[in-house]
Amino acid sequence: MTQPAYSPGLEGVIATATSISYLDTEHEQIVLRGYDLMELARSKRYTEVAYLTLYGRLPEASELRAFEDRLRQEAELPEEVYRLLDLLPSRMHVMDAQRTVLSYLAGLEDPAELQDTSPEADLRKGVRVLARMPALTANAYRALRGLPRVRPDPSLGFSEGFLYMLVGTRPDPEAVRVFDVTLTCYIEHEMPNSTFAARVIASTLSDLYGALVGAAASLKGPLHGGANEAVAHMLLEILEAGGSARAEQYVLDRLRRGERIMGFGHRVYMRRPDPRAVFLREALPGLAGRRPEGEELLRIYGVVEAVMRREKGLHPNADYPVGLLYYLLGIPIELYTPIFLAARTAGLVAHVAEQHGDNRLFRPRVLYQGPRGLRP
Ligand code: ACO
Repeated sequence: MTQPAYSPGLEGVIATATSISYLDTEHEQIVLRGYDLMELARSKRYTEVAYLTLYGRLPEASELRAFEDRLRQEAELPEEVYRLLDLLPSRMHVMDAQRTVLSYLAGLEDPAELQDTSPEADLRKGVRVLARMPALTANAYRALRGLPRVRPDPSLGFSEGFLYMLVGTRPDPEAVRVFDVTLTCYIEHEMPNSTFAARVIASTLSDLYGALVGAAASLKGPLHGGANEAVAHMLLEILEAGGSARAEQYVLDRLRRGERIMGFGHRVYMRRPDPRAVFLREALPGLAGRRPEGEELLRIYGVVEAVMRREKGLHPNADYPVGLLYYLLGIPIELYTPIFLAARTAGLVAHVAEQHGDNRLFRPRVLYQGPRGLRP
């Protein structure tokens, strides 16, 4: 029997049919339920785009109100979750705490509801998880750092309340708008590793929570969502090492050592720009004045970008501007990837519901390269 073609890393392989999103590289567009994601980011709130992602169409005003009310009503964490967070080892990464809590939340579901893999049940549970994600993310961090709990404030909108819990003070409207836009940019992105992981898990008819836990583990990796934290660390390292005057040499040294520059390159975009990175870049100058080192970090940002384009022909991906935007907004660095997961929850839930709605078990084959015919 002839083997089907082998593509390392499944590069270029069509893994599933979907009507959620598509990276249309030819037209430099991220298509989300028929809309251009960047147009949505410019004109809609995250919650509107979350509704679109989950239910396949933009909400009417009354539907949006009801959806936002539900997110508000379900935002508080069950008391047991706070107790669980207090038990976690302080050296744990916030992503791992988030993943642990997601696993625990499965146990708080009614068993019949947990096992119900109908798309309707996935969306029901998924909206609950999405509503809890801001408090979960902020309080995971706070528990690990020995800080007091922060409760969701029902008088605040989703992104404003989320940012408030992350930084501990009431954010101003400009900060809220930029933060909201980053959440929209992160909401859904076709078939990255974490979404694939979620769909693979869901395809065994395992439950939504299991799929989200798997996705969280995938997203943590520095080749995927973990890159936004790595970007902030790198920019600060360059600042320490001499700033923008040293940035070019820093990049060249790393490339010579065969190291990667985080926040650059992408499996699908390859050597084309990531529309999210182009769009989010626009917000940087307006925020640079918020920290004393902001302007210099922005200069470093520009030098690294130019050197990467010249040396490798590589463009930034979304994690590059986000790494600096979140820093300028005063968000602790270890929260960047957990925020990405919180924002991506809507996309992941939509994918699990779609998988469960028309399921075929994922079960690929291998190109076997080991020995044969050995005898014990
Ligand atoms: N820095 C330096 N070189 C790079 C980078 C980078 N960030 N990304 C790709 N390259 C180079 C590789 O060295 C390779 O060069 P070569 O052909 O001369 O050997 C070439 O580009 C192709 O790289 P691959 O690793 O084969 O491409 P792949 O599609 O597997 O990688 C990935 C995609 C993992 C995202 C890669 O670009 C990378 O490691 N980037 C840094 C991590 C990062 O930013 N991840 C975030 C992804 S987007 C997101 O999750 C929101």
